[in-house]
This record gives sequence, structure tokens and C-alpha cells, in this order.
Amino acid sequence: MASSLTISVILGVLWATILLSFATTVTAAYPSPLESEAIALLESRWWSNHSSNTSQRCQWPGITCNTAESITKINLSDAPNIEVGDRFGKLNFSSFPNLVLLNLSDHQLRGKIPHQIGDLSALKYLDLSYCGLSGELPPSLGKLTQLEFLDISYNDNINGSIPPQLGNLENLVTLNLSQCGIVGPIPSALGQLTSLQSLILWGNQINGSIPLEIGYLRNLTYLGLSNNRIVGPIPSALGQLTSLQSLILWGNQINGSIPFEIGYLRNLTYLSLSKNRIVGRIPSALGQLTSLQSLILSGNQINGSIPLEIGYLRNLTDLSLSSNGIVGPIPSEICNLANLTSLYLSQNKLTGSIPSCVGSLSKMLYLSLGSNLLKGPIPQEICNLANLTSLYLSQNKLTGSIPSCIGSLSKMLDLSLGSNLLKGSIPKEIGKLFDLSYLNLSFNQLSGPIPILSATKLRIIDAGNGCNKISPDPFEGNSDLSPYMCPTPLTKKANSSRIPYYIKTFLPIAILFTFSILGCLLFSRFKLKNNHVSVQPTKNGDLCSIWNYDGKIAYEDIVAATEDFDFRYCIGVGGYGSVYKAKLPCGKVVALKKLHHLEAENPTFDNSFRNEIKFLSEIRHRNIVKLHGFCLHR
Ligand SMILES: *[C@@H]1O[C@H](CO)[C@@H](O)[C@H](O)[C@H]1NC(C)=O
Ligand SMILES: *[C@@H]1O[C@H](CO)[C@@H](O)[C@H](O)[C@H]1NC(C)=O
Ligand SMILES: *[C@@H]1O[C@H](CO)[C@@H](O)[C@H](O)[C@H]1NC(C)=O
Ligand SMILES: *[C@@H]1O[C@H](CO)[C@@H](O)[C@H](O)[C@H]1NC(C)=O
Ligand SMILES: *[C@@H]1O[C@H](CO)[C@@H](O)[C@H](O)[C@H]1NC(C)=O
Ligand SMILES: *[C@@H]1O[C@H](CO)[C@@H](O)[C@H](O)[C@H]1NC(C)=O
Ligand SMILES: *[C@@H]1O[C@H](CO)[C@@H](O)[C@H](O)[C@H]1NC(C)=O
Ligand SMILES: *[C@@H]1O[C@H](CO)[C@@H](O)[C@H](O)[C@H]1NC(C)=O
Ligand SMILES: *[C@@H]1O[C@H](CO)[C@@H](O)[C@H](O)[C@H]1NC(C)=O
Ligand SMILES: *[C@@H]1O[C@H](CO)[C@@H](O)[C@H](O)[C@H]1NC(C)=O
Ligand SMILES: *[C@@H]1O[C@H](CO)[C@@H](O)[C@H](O)[C@H]1NC(C)=O
Ligand SMILES: *[C@@H]1O[C@H](CO)[C@@H](O)[C@H](O)[C@H]1NC(C)=O
Repeated sequence: MASSLTISVILGVLWATILLSFATTVTAAYPSPLESEAIALLESRWWSNHSSNTSQRCQWPGITCNTAESITKINLSDAPNIEVGDRFGKLNFSSFPNLVLLNLSDHQLRGKIPHQIGDLSALKYLDLSYCGLSGELPPSLGKLTQLEFLDISYNDNINGSIPPQLGNLENLVTLNLSQCGIVGPIPSALGQLTSLQSLILWGNQINGSIPLEIGYLRNLTYLGLSNNRIVGPIPSALGQLTSLQSLILWGNQINGSIPFEIGYLRNLTYLSLSKNRIVGRIPSALGQLTSLQSLILSGNQINGSIPLEIGYLRNLTDLSLSSNGIVGPIPSEICNLANLTSLYLSQNKLTGSIPSCVGSLSKMLYLSLGSNLLKGPIPQEICNLANLTSLYLSQNKLTGSIPSCIGSLSKMLDLSLGSNLLKGSIPKEIGKLFDLSYLNLSFNQLSGPIPILSATKLRIIDAGNGCNKISPDPFEGNSDLSPYMCPTPLTKKANSSRIPYYIKTFLPIAILFTFSILGCLLFSRFKLKNNHVSVQPTKNGDLCSIWNYDGKIAYEDIVAATEDFDFRYCIGVGGYGSVYKAKLPCGKVVALKKLHHLEAENPTFDNSFRNEIKFLSEIRHRNIVKLHGFCLHR
């Protein structure tokens, strides 16, 4: 009796267990789609610090639902506290049939892009920029056929090539894979992306040539392939991209000549082919690009003369043909370009004289005609360029005297007329150029006295012979110039001053000395107090903190951010170098100073430079621009 009872009790418990486990299996096997979303969110643990109550998931930061409470967007743009980290792959991507947008930009996602991402069947916008991702791009991205916007830019550790499967994304409008460490060629399958408007692949290590199939992308307005290792010619098929507004191919190894079909791109406003290996002439068909605002062909091996048709480009503001092998005269048709603010023709083999009509280009800021074979005088009309800040005419065969009216160009920062055949005296009006920070009149045949300069930004150093001089000496190599900035009065007129000369000389030195000692004392105290901040440890993946000491990655970022120090990013030119404005991949906007070659190539410079940099990098003061780093680079 007792034993049979025991058995039945056990049976009863077994039944209950079987019933229970059956019930749970049923609910687990068929969770509703909404429950699946909730389970997937919970299991992803992305929001684990925020909440575990999934019934309120539509109110979780970054989540948007539709009226049926199904999740349509995960946009962590203003949810900086949601840490995804290495939990990216923990999300069950197949649980979100209505997810249209996934934006994890600027959230650290260590590791690879999980191949299951291809299960987000409704996805239209995928933004994984600045996410610290590595590894290869999964071919499963090609399953996201609804995708319109794909941005995986600024993930430097991604490697591998562009999966040809991306060619299946027939709705794609924007593809941005810039600054991703991508290697390999551009797959010709990308020619199937007929909806594409922006194709942005710059700053990778893409090799191979530009596939002809790119010519099928008739809706393309922006093609950016700069700063890669692309070889081969510019395919004439690019002439079919008639919607194109920007064609940016600089910094590759593109060869061959510029196809005349480029002339069909009537909506083109920006064309940069600089720093390639392009040969041949500038096709006169470029004269048909009447919308063009920037034409940058510098740093190639282009020869032939400047086509007269360039005068049709009335909207042009920036024209750079420098560092090529261009011959012949500067056509006066260039003077039709009334909107021109910069004209760079330096380092070519241009002959003839400077057309006086350049004086009509009244918006001009930068005029660079140096290192050519130009003859004749500097035209007086140059003085009509009232906004001119840089005038580079060095290393030509210019004759005549320096027009005295140059002193009226009051915005001049950078005046370089060295290594010509200029004669006569230096006009005293040059002394009025108060903002001048670089002056070069060296190696001419100038004579007479040197005017008193009002410019305060020129660097003055001890010349060693009891005189001071400006460094680099703007007047050297002119044998008939009088010495300048010498303390011993050359005429008796010095007596007119009441203050004895030695006081004039030594008082400022004494004051400066006192201040420097004071400064050093203060600084060393400051340094002791702040020792812990002097050198930040480098954090892997954070570009700005790697950038403390001659970082290679940082240099490449700088090159990318300024398009290899393109003048468009130049915000000023000084005595030591040019200053550029650059937005780094991490979003920081910084000022970059690139030193003039002259200075950097001096071997003794290297040590003193390193010392000064070391000192500067340790200074923290609200009135001194913080030095983030430097690069010494060939
Ligand atoms: C979750 O939130 C709902 C709605 O606010 C609430 O009714 C429920 O009690 C919460 N559950 C838990 C476990 O906190
Ligand atoms: C994502 O969130 C940001 C910040 O709220 C917003 O500006 C952006 O428009 C959102 N994106 C979409 C597609 O809703
Ligand atoms: C994604 O978020 C970033 C900021 O985190 C924002 O700049 C970007 O516009 C967003 N992208 C989309 C497609 O909403
Ligand atoms: C989330 O919680 C973990 C562990 O409790 C903690 O280490 C982390 O700092 C938290 N993150 C945030 C963004 O609060
Ligand atoms: C992911 O979700 C789907 C659909 O909700 C489900 O069938 C599948 O079992 C889930 N996968 C995992 C690993 O949980
Ligand atoms: C690509 O990246 C992965 C993950 O960072 C790494 O394991 C692999 O060695 C890299 N491959 C190459 C060729 O650099
Ligand atoms: C990538 O390119 C697209 C299209 O020009 C742009 O909207 C997006 O902001 C770019 N991404 C980043 C991180 O700059
Ligand atoms: C190109 O753009 C036009 C206008 O936006 C659109 O009507 C057309 O469908 C697009 N072409 C393709 C192939 O998507
Ligand atoms: C060129 O630009 C104009 C004006 O923006 C536009 O109407 C026209 O459709 C564009 N042409 C092509 C081929 O995209
Ligand atoms: C200059 O551009 C404007 C609009 O950007 C355009 O209307 C005008 O036709 C262009 N000028 C020339 C000469 O093509
Ligand atoms: C200069 O540019 C403006 C604005 O793009 C344009 O309206 C004007 O026509 C241009 N000037 C000339 C002479 O074409
Ligand atoms: C010169 O620069 C000033 C100030 O930037 C500007 O207002 C003026 O229009 C410029 N002059 C010409 C001819 O462009």
C-alpha cells in the first residue's frame, strides 16, 4: 500500500514535469515576432546597464518603434551611454523584420562585422562609421538589398577587399568606405549600383585600375577615389557620368592622359587629378566644363601648353597646374576668369612674360608663378590685386625693378621675388607691408639701402657680425645692398635720439632675459605639479592619442584631411611655413603648420626642432595653442 502510493506520487510529479516542460517548449518555439525582438534585445545586453524591463523597450534610448510596437530604428546617435563594445555580434539580427535603420556610429564595436548582419532584411540605412571595427567586410552585406545608405568609413583596422556581393545592393544611393584600410581592386560589380549617387573610397590601399563599369553609374554625383594606389588610365567611360559634380582622383598612380570625354561632364564643379602620373596635354575639351569651380591638376607630368579654352571656365575660383612640365606662355585668356582666388602655375616651364591683365583678377588671394622661365618685368597692374596675400614669382628670369606700388598691397603675408634678375633699389614702400611674415628678395641684382620694415612677424636673428638679420635672409645674394640692422650707427644722425644706443640695445635684452628666467622657473614648477599629464599613454585605436610622437597613422590622416596639403585647406602662410585647417577622422579640427622645405632640410635644424617640440608639447597655457604632436616626414 505504502509502496504503491509512493509510486503514484512519483508518477504524478513526473506528469507535472512533463506537462511543464512541454508548455515551456511550446512558448519558446513560437514566440511572437514582438517577443522575439524583446528577447533579442535582452540577449544582446547592449542596454543591460539601462534596463531589463523589455515591456518598455520602445522607450529605451536610441530605439524607435512603429505603431505596432515593432522596432524600426536603432539609432545610438544620441545614446552615448549605451556601450556595445564586443557585444555587436550578440544581437540576433534575424529577429528584426522591420528594422530600417541601424546607426552605431562613434560607438566602439571591437572585432569584426558579424556576417549575420545580412539577416536585417528590411535595413535601408547602416552607419558603422568611427566604430573601431577590424577584419574583413562580410560578403553577407550583399543580402541587404533594401539598403540605400552604407557608411563604414573611418574604421582603420578593416582589411580585406570590397566584396563583389555589394553589387547586389541595387537600391544603394551612398556607399562610403573611406579610411578603412581596404586593399584590393574596385570590383567591377559595383557598376551594377545604378542608383548610386556617392561612391566614396578615399584613403584606403585600393589598387588595380578604375573599372570601366563605373561608367554605368549614371546617377553618380560624387566619385572620390583619392589617396589610394590606383593604377592605369582614367577610363574614357567616365565621360558617361553626366550627373557628376565632383571627380576626385588625387594621390594615386594613375597614368595615361586626360581623356577628352571628361569634357562631357557639364555639371562638374570640382575636378582634382593632382599627384598622379598623368602625361600628355590638357585637353581643350576641359573648356566645356563651365560649371567648374576648382581645377587641380598639379603634381603630374602634364606637358603641352595651357589651352586657350581655359578662359571659358568663368566660374573657376581655384586653378592649379603647378609641378608639371607645361610649356608656352600664360595665355591672356586666363584673365577672363574673374572669380579666380588662387592661381598656381609654379614649377613648370612657362615662358614669355606675366600678362599685365592679371591685374583685372581682383578677387585673387594667391598668385604663384614661381620656378618657371618667365621673362620681362613684374607688371605694375599686379598692384590692383588689393586682396593679394601671397605673391610667388621666385626662380624666374624677371627683369626690371620691383614696382613701388607693391607697398599698397596691404594684406600681403608672403612676398617672394627671389632668384630673378631684378635690378634697382628696393622700394621703401615694402616697409609698409605690416603683415608680411615671409619676404624673399634674395639672389637678384638689387642695390642701395634696405628700407625700414614695419613687419613684426619676420624672424630676426643675430647675424654674427654685430648686425641682426631676418631669417631666412630675404636680401642675401644681392651684392650691392647696404648692410642692415646693425647696431653701430652708420650716420651721425643717430645722435638725434636722446637714449644712448647701448641702453636701446641692452635694455630689451635684459628685460627679455629676466622674463625668460622667470618663465623657466614658473614652467619648471608647473611641470613638477603636472608631471602626470606630460605624455599620454597611447590607447589602441584612438588616433588622436596615438598622435603624440611622430605617429605614422596620424601623418596619413593629416595627408588625407588636407588632401596632401592642398592649398584649399591653407588658412595662412607665415615665415616658417603654411598653416592648414584639417578635420581629423576623430572629428577634431586642428591647425597644422607645415614648415617650408628650406628650413626643414637644414641638418642642424633637426636637433633644435626636436628640442623645441619637446618643450612646446609640455606647455599648457590658455593663451598658447596646445601642441598635439608633430611629424618629421620626407
Ligand atoms: C515593467 O514595466 C511595466 C510597465 O511600466 C510594469 O507594469 C512592470 O511591472 C515592469 N516589470 C518589472 C519586472 O519591473
Ligand atoms: C539619429 O539620431 C540623431 C540624433 O537624434 C538624429 O539627428 C538623426 O536624424 C537620427 N537619424 C535618423 C535616420 O532618424
Ligand atoms: C548616425 O549618428 C551620427 C552621430 O553619432 C550622425 O552624425 C549620423 O548622421 C547618423 N547617421 C544616420 C544615418 O542617421
Ligand atoms: C555598465 O555596467 C558595467 C558593470 O556594472 C560597468 O563596468 C560599466 O561602466 C557600465 N557602463 C555604463 C555606460 O554605465
Ligand atoms: C534568432 O531569432 C530567430 C527569429 O526570432 C530565431 O528563429 C532564432 O532561433 C534566434 N537565434 C538565436 C541564436 O537565438
Ligand atoms: C586582418 O584583420 C584581422 C583582425 O584584426 C587580423 O587577424 C588579420 O591578420 C588581418 N589580416 C591582414 C592581412 O592584415
Ligand atoms: C560618408 O559619405 C556620406 C555621403 O557623402 C556622408 O553623408 C557621410 O557623412 C560620410 N561619413 C562620414 C563619417 O563622414
Ligand atoms: C537616377 O535618378 C533619377 C532621378 O532621381 C531616377 O528617376 C532614376 O530612377 C535613377 N536611375 C536609377 C537607375 O536609379
Ligand atoms: C545638371 O545640373 C542641373 C542643375 O542642377 C540639373 O538640372 C541637371 O539635371 C543636371 N544634369 C545631369 C545630367 O544630371
Ligand atoms: C556658373 O555657375 C552658375 C551656377 O552655379 C551657373 O548658373 C552659370 O551658368 C555658371 N557660369 C557659366 C559661365 O557657366
Ligand atoms: C562668379 O561666380 C558667381 C557665383 O558662382 C557667378 O554668379 C558669377 O557669374 C561668376 N562670375 C563670372 C564672371 O562668371
Ligand atoms: C577683398 O576682401 C574683402 C574682405 O574679405 C571683401 O569684402 C572684398 O569683396 C574683397 N575684394 C574683392 C575685389 O574681392
